[in-house]
Amino acid sequence: MSDAVPVLTLDGPGGAGKGTISRLIAERLGWHLLDSGALYRLTALAALRHGVALDDAAALAELARDLDVAFLAEGETTRVLFEGDDVSREIRSEQTGDAASQVAAVPAVREALLERQRDFRKAPGLVADGRDMGTVVFPDAPLKVFLTASASERARRRYLQLQEVGMDASLSSLLKEIQARDARDMQRSVAPLKPADDAVTLDTTRLTIPEVVDRLTDLLTEHGLASAT
Ligand code: C5P
Repeated sequence: MSDAVPVLTLDGPGGAGKGTISRLIAERLGWHLLDSGALYRLTALAALRHGVALDDAAALAELARDLDVAFLAEGETTRVLFEGDDVSREIRSEQTGDAASQVAAVPAVREALLERQRDFRKAPGLVADGRDMGTVVFPDAPLKVFLTASASERARRRYLQLQEVGMDASLSSLLKEIQARDARDMQRSVAPLKPADDAVTLDTTRLTIPEVVDRLTDLLTEHGLASAT
């Protein structure tokens, strides 16, 4: 598979810094970016908008297959259009995240999103951010990284992120939600959250964002995926 388009998979629990780190690494390498969580969040949003129950597997899978979505890169951020509306902010709410983790536990939804995710693999390379990028979606990726951080540190980061965009949140309820979502993501029967056997695990609890980016850049260089500068 040496001529396959290279993929860096970044998996791990919510709030471990995957979103920010993936974007920075993709920018640095000039690679494409897959925010797979956004696809689960959009499926959840579609269900909420179209009145589909979060346990109606067949209807959810149909929504996932037919998602009308566009990702528009805009400087530092990506604008997400769903059925023509800008939902960039709406899909980041804790409510959508929670619903996303429920629809993500439905096997038919994961199956429906599989090819759509693999379509993001285009030259010169892809940074894939999610929970099962290394285990299920891109098992042949040449570099797999599992990013973690303690639950309280992840809650603190999420709190600051939400504050930054002017959204209300309480630290203690965020911690509870993060723990509930971790448990659901790790215990589901399909594609549970866990490191791939060949993944490098990086605990970011005490690392700054530039430190994590540097560590990943070293790993990419060691794997022949980026040149040392
Ligand atoms: O990463 P993000 O918080 O946007 O993901 C939202 C939810 O989508 C996660 O809690 C998880 O349940 C689900 N997800 C998943 N597989 C992925 C990405 C996200 O199950 N590859």
